[in-house]
Amino acid sequence: MKIDYTGKSVIITGAGGSIGRASSLLFAQLGASVIASDINEERLQETIDQIANAGGSAMSIVADVTDPDEAAGIVKFACNTLGGIDVLFNNAGGSFPTPMEAISKEEFQRLRSLNFDAVYHASMEALPVMVAKGGGVILSTTSGAGSGAVNGLAVYGAAKAGVNSLMRSIAIEYGRKGIRANAIAPSAASTGMIQWLESTPGGVKGFAEAQPMGRLGAPEDIASVAAFLASEHAGFVNGVVLPVDGGVEAMLAVPG
Ligand SMILES: NC(=O)c1ccc[n+]([C@@H]2O[C@H](COP(=O)([O-])OP(=O)(O)OC[C@H]3O[C@@H](n4cnc5c(N)ncnc54)[C@H](O)[C@@H]3O)[C@@H](O)[C@H]2O)c1
Repeated sequence: MKIDYTGKSVIITGAGGSIGRASSLLFAQLGASVIASDINEERLQETIDQIANAGGSAMSIVADVTDPDEAAGIVKFACNTLGGIDVLFNNAGGSFPTPMEAISKEEFQRLRSLNFDAVYHASMEALPVMVAKGGGVILSTTSGAGSGAVNGLAVYGAAKAGVNSLMRSIAIEYGRKGIRANAIAPSAASTGMIQWLESTPGGVKGFAEAQPMGRLGAPEDIASVAAFLASEHAGFVNGVVLPVDGGVEAMLAVPG
C-alpha cells in the first residue's frame, strides 16, 4: 500500500504548530501541493522552509481562522492558486486549562471561535468547491477532551465535541457527493500545548509515564493517521472520530 498525493491540493491550518507542521511535511513528502496556513507568520515560514529543504511543494497564507472572512480566504487562495481543494485539514486550535468559573465571557467566545466556529466556517467554504469537483476530504483535529471531560478544558472540550458532531453531519449529508469527513482525537501529545503540565506534580515526564503506553503522542503519530485518513486507502472511512491516543480513551480512570 502506497499513499500518493501527487496532483492533490491539501490545506492544513495551524501549520506553524507541532501537529500542523508534522502533517504539512508528511503530506508534502507524499507528493501533495500543500497550502499551509497559520496566524503565526514566523512559525509558518519555518514550516515552509522545512518543506522546501525536503524538496516538497508548499505555499503559505497567514490567516486568523477565527475570522470567517480569513478562513474563507484560505479556501479562495487554494482555488485561485491550485484550482481547487482535495483535502481540508482543520487543525488549528488549542486551549490553556482554566477552571470553569474562571472562564470569562471573552475567553469563552475566543475558545469557541478557535476550536469550533473556525472549523465550521472553513468547512462550509470548502464544501461547495469539493462538490463542484466531485469529491474531497475534510479532516479535523479534535481531542479526547471532546469525548471525555478533562479538568479545566470545559469550553475547549465542548467545542471539540461540536467538531466531532459537525464531521459526522458532513459525512452523512455529503457522502453521496463523494466527500468524506472524519476527526482525529489525540490525547496529550508532546507539543507546546501541554507545556503547562510541567507545573503539575511529576511534570510532563510523570504524566507521560502514567499513559497506557508509557509515553505521550508525537506530532508524527497524528500526521501519519491524517495522511492515511485523507487518502483513498481510507475511502470507506466516513464520519468517525478516531482516537490517536495510545489507549487513553480505552482506559477507565479509577480514583485512587
Ligand atoms: N498537543 C496536544 O496535546 C493536543 C491534544 C489534543 C488535541 N490537540 C489539537 O491538535 C491541534 C494542533 O495543536 P498542536 O498540539 O500542534 O498545538 P500547537 O500550539 O503547536 O499548534 C497550534 C497552531 O494553531 C495556530 N493558531 C492558533 N490560533 C490560531 C488562529 N486564530 N488562526 C490560525 N492559526 C491559529 C497556532 O499559531 C499554532 O501554530 C489543535 O486543534 C489542538 O486542539 C492537541
